[in-house]
Amino acid sequence: MTGPSALPTVDRAEGVMIVDTDGREYVDGCSGTICVNIGHGVPEVLAAISRQSQLVTFAHRSQFRNRPVEDLSALVLSIAGPGYKEVVYTNSGSEAVETALRLAMHHHAGTGRDIIVSQRPSYHGMTAGALAVSGHPPRRQNLEPLLGGAAKLELVSSSRDAEILPSLEDWLSVLQRVDPARVAAVLLEPVGGAASGGAETDDRTFRGLREFCDSAGALLIVDEVMTGFGRTGEWFGVTRSGVTPDLLATGKGLSGGYLPIGACLVGEHVMPGGSAAEVSMGHTMSGNPLAAAAALAVLTYTRDHGLVSRAREVGTRLRRELALIARSVPALRPPRGRGLHLGVGIEQDPVGFATTPLNRRIVDAALRNGLLVYPSGVDARTQSVMVCPPLTIRDREIEMLIARFTRAVSESLAAERVQGG
Ligand SMILES: Cc1ncc(COP(=O)(O)O)c(C=O)c1O
Repeated sequence: MTGPSALPTVDRAEGVMIVDTDGREYVDGCSGTICVNIGHGVPEVLAAISRQSQLVTFAHRSQFRNRPVEDLSALVLSIAGPGYKEVVYTNSGSEAVETALRLAMHHHAGTGRDIIVSQRPSYHGMTAGALAVSGHPPRRQNLEPLLGGAAKLELVSSSRDAEILPSLEDWLSVLQRVDPARVAAVLLEPVGGAASGGAETDDRTFRGLREFCDSAGALLIVDEVMTGFGRTGEWFGVTRSGVTPDLLATGKGLSGGYLPIGACLVGEHVMPGGSAAEVSMGHTMSGNPLAAAAALAVLTYTRDHGLVSRAREVGTRLRRELALIARSVPALRPPRGRGLHLGVGIEQDPVGFATTPLNRRIVDAALRNGLLVYPSGVDARTQSVMVCPPLTIRDREIEMLIARFTRAVSESLAAERVQGG
């Protein structure tokens, strides 16, 4: 595995290409950590950051309203469609999930509802509250003492060997067992990222969970930190199911990696008559005008350049190319996911998850070959490599990505044969 000291030092980046201080070029085949949705160095975004930085970079939300935040909220709410009332800002996706959890607890105050039901595998962030509701054993390792106090957690797993994610029936059987009257919220991602490399929750499951929450009085929280703002070929991954969550957590693609910002979209019924932003509090930098100006420019660029439908079209091509590679390499599974949120599973890893798993070795070999891809999975069954380039990737860059990925896969398998004798 590549440790920090062995990593190249980044110098500059433009579009889909990153250059290190030795002048080596890398194709950014995973948008950093699946966040640089519109590519690096977009002049319109840099200009917006520069303009805002000359006006004001910090003004606390308790002392001033600020225009970038107000314009951003208007745009986010118009993108999200009906059913939402407010946007609460954070500095990261983890904090957006924490905000959703806090709001769910405020919503249910005095009712005795104390259980969050989430799935395994899942990943919702590294802060203690977000990690406490994540079905990601490797990232929870050694941290369990920090994770007990957030809420009672129930994890739903798939009852079917062939499926990574639970079915609606799996969810409902756990929800009935724990007692619907104690469930505060159901939490899930539309398409898995760090935990399950592109595994999708089907629309029927979303609709069934919406029905459960409505009838049981629980809240539905959808984590769109990785999937949100176009990555899946829709503005949000949950949109296709027709379901509107009560709380929707976002981050990453909101500012495309330009500046730290996350946001929690709050449904109309969560804090009736009150301000979710006031109730959920926040952090010093939450809702600062500079990050909001960057996000506003990124979303405007995403919309004006038709990048959401582009993710669908380019994703179809990339998926086809990855499927061809997977067909000729028995160690790889056909690609999973949607739009440009794609993951290639590892079929069989003879070396195992405990040493250096094959997905890690592919990621390392890719780096040596001038390509960034992202390792994902919580165990041998879920290990995968995510291939999620910026939505702006062009044909020529896809060719480079595929050529380098093919080389990385064959080098890591060849090294395995040498190791194995
Ligand atoms: C689905 C999901 N939720 C939450 C997070 C946490 O976001 P952040 O790393 O910005 O705190 C991530 C990060 O990968 C994620 O993929």
